[in-house]
Amino acid sequence: MAYDTDLSFIYKNPTRIVFGVNSLRDLAAECNELKCSKAFLVTDKGLVEAGLAEKVEAALGKLHVGTFDECPQDSGVHIVNQAADIAREKGADILVSLGGGSVIDTAKGVAILLKEGGKLEDHYGLQLFTRPQTPHIAIPTTAGTGSEVTWAYVVKDWEKNQKILCGDDHIIPNTAILDPVLTQGLPPRITAFTGMDALTHAIEAIHALQAEPITDIMAFGAIRLIVQYLPTCVESGDDLFARGQQQIAATTAGIAFSNAQIGLVHAAAHSAGALYGVPHGLANSILLPHVMKYNMDECADRYALVADAMGVKERGMGDEEATLAAIDAVFALSKRIGLPQKLSEVGVEESGLGQVAELSLSDGAIVYNPKLIYESEQVMEVLKEAY
Ligand SMILES: [Fe+2]
Repeated sequence: MAYDTDLSFIYKNPTRIVFGVNSLRDLAAECNELKCSKAFLVTDKGLVEAGLAEKVEAALGKLHVGTFDECPQDSGVHIVNQAADIAREKGADILVSLGGGSVIDTAKGVAILLKEGGKLEDHYGLQLFTRPQTPHIAIPTTAGTGSEVTWAYVVKDWEKNQKILCGDDHIIPNTAILDPVLTQGLPPRITAFTGMDALTHAIEAIHALQAEPITDIMAFGAIRLIVQYLPTCVESGDDLFARGQQQIAATTAGIAFSNAQIGLVHAAAHSAGALYGVPHGLANSILLPHVMKYNMDECADRYALVADAMGVKERGMGDEEATLAAIDAVFALSKRIGLPQKLSEVGVEESGLGQVAELSLSDGAIVYNPKLIYESEQVMEVLKEAY
């Protein structure tokens, strides 16, 4: 997968990133910067209970026109429709999302409906819009999804039991506020699996077919930060410096994969998530090393660079040996931060692996995998190893 003189690419990152301890206090100023004055907050019940939603409402002050706090773990198409109806009724001209990927993705859907009207089902697809959608400031409370800087959103169709992956450059959030204080209270387990989601974004951005040198720089940088700081975030959640570095890594990996795209890990994780409710980052964490193994004959040269970024490539190692070292390092990291290693440990049924494989084939992420995947048996090979 080496680059040559035919290399050509388009790189885009329009999101304004506001980073710092207590940077939440800049929220109202950031709304003003976007010439907006009616902010509608999208969040979830857990963050209301934790008192964080209240902090955001206070930071918005008189700009705050309403709050929707019904986002579940895997947000749904019907949830987006519901939230949009309320936001419309409140006359919102900007969305503020506070939460993990599910919340931010809900707000992306709402941003579309406030501008284009109708129901989310009317707007499924990729790159459909010709004008900017409703302004959106994303405030992540996990450090993993990267959704605060990406063009894609994933919501579940609860009736069809399938995750819908859509995307458009016009729904990339205008602003991301990264305030380490807001991730300080994240429990170790969620810190661990959202952190592994970020690592997966970085590694998939490196093996994806649209990888290029700018996204490489971002992805390798993210890997270095994650290896160094994720264990600290899990073991000492109050460490604001480590929390901040992990946030920077997650956002950087988000920018990388939003441009380079992803691959089989995400396709299979979306499917295991839709069918068995496996949290996204956890599914990625389990599948990542197995997909690397499966892909290695296509891109061992790329994984050798991953090994280097993870600090496990020793002098004299060939690409294949370095790839195996990188795979071991991924296993070791997920073990160290206490995550399960097998799909059988997280509620996936062996009899359902075929269905996970079938569903993966229709996931948009799979087409960017470095090894071409055209039949479910190929996905099954990975799933069996990961089971
Ligand atoms: Fe992800």
